Amino acid sequence: LRLRKPIIAIDGPAGAGKSTVTRRVAKALNLTYLDTGAMYRGIAWLVLNSGISIEDESAIAELVSQADLEFIPSSDDQPPQVIINGENVTNAIRTPQITALVSPISAYAAVRQKLVNYQQKLGKLGGIVAEGRDIGTNVFPDAEVKIFLTASVQERARRRLLDFQDQGQDNLDLQQLEREIEQRDYQDSHRTLAPLRKASDAIELNTDDLTVEKVVNKIVHFCQINE
Ligand code: DC
Repeated sequence: LRLRKPIIAIDGPAGAGKSTVTRRVAKALNLTYLDTGAMYRGIAWLVLNSGISIEDESAIAELVSQADLEFIPSSDDQPPQVIINGENVTNAIRTPQITALVSPISAYAAVRQKLVNYQQKLGKLGGIVAEGRDIGTNVFPDAEVKIFLTASVQERARRRLLDFQDQGQDNLDLQQLEREIEQRDYQDSHRTLAPLRKASDAIELNTDDLTVEKVVNKIVHFCQINE
C-alpha cells in the first residue's frame, strides 16, 4: 500500500542540466515539477531589494521570517511562478546579479529552514519531481528515486554560454563562466548546512556525453523499475 505518490529527487551542481531534465521528467511521468533553486533565488531577490547587507545574517533572518512566499507549479509550459510578498518575481530572479548572490544567502540557517519547511509541505502528498542541492539528502531523504546529475565544469560552462547566446547575449567569456561555476560549486558544497553532495543511495549520472533526451529516458526508466 502506497500512502503517497512517489517523489523523485534530482540534485547536482549548477549547470548540470537539472532544470531542463527535471521539467521533462515531470512531464513524462505526469508529476509536478518543483524547482527549489527558484525559491532560494526568490529570497536572494528579496534581500537585494530590501537594501540589507548580505552579511547581516540576523536582519536577513528577520526579513525572511516575515516574508510571504508563494510557489505556483508550472502549467502549460509556463515556468513555475515565484511570488514574494505579493510580487511576481519569476523573471527577476534570473539575472546574473541574483545568481551571484544566491549561493551565500542560501547558506543561512533561517533561509534554509523556511524553504525546506515549505518544500516538505508541498511534497507531503508526493507526486513531485524536485530539483536542488539537498533534496535527496535533506528535504526528501525517503524519495523513491534519487538522481545526482553531474557534468564537467568545461561542459557546464559551454552549455551556459550557449544558453546566453540563445538569449541574445554574446559578450560572455567561457573562462569567466568556468570560474563562476567553480566558485558556486565550492560555495554550495562547502557550506555547513545541507551542503551539495550525492546521497549514498542516489544514482550518479554524468551528462557530458548524453543528450537531454537520453538523460530523461534513463531517469524515467529508473523510475519505472522502481515502481
Ligand atoms: O539551481 P539554481 O541555480 O537555481 O540554484 C540557486 C542556488 O540556490 C544554488 O547556488 C544554491 C541554492 N540552492 C540550495 O542551496 N538548495 C537547493 N535545494 C536549491 C538551490
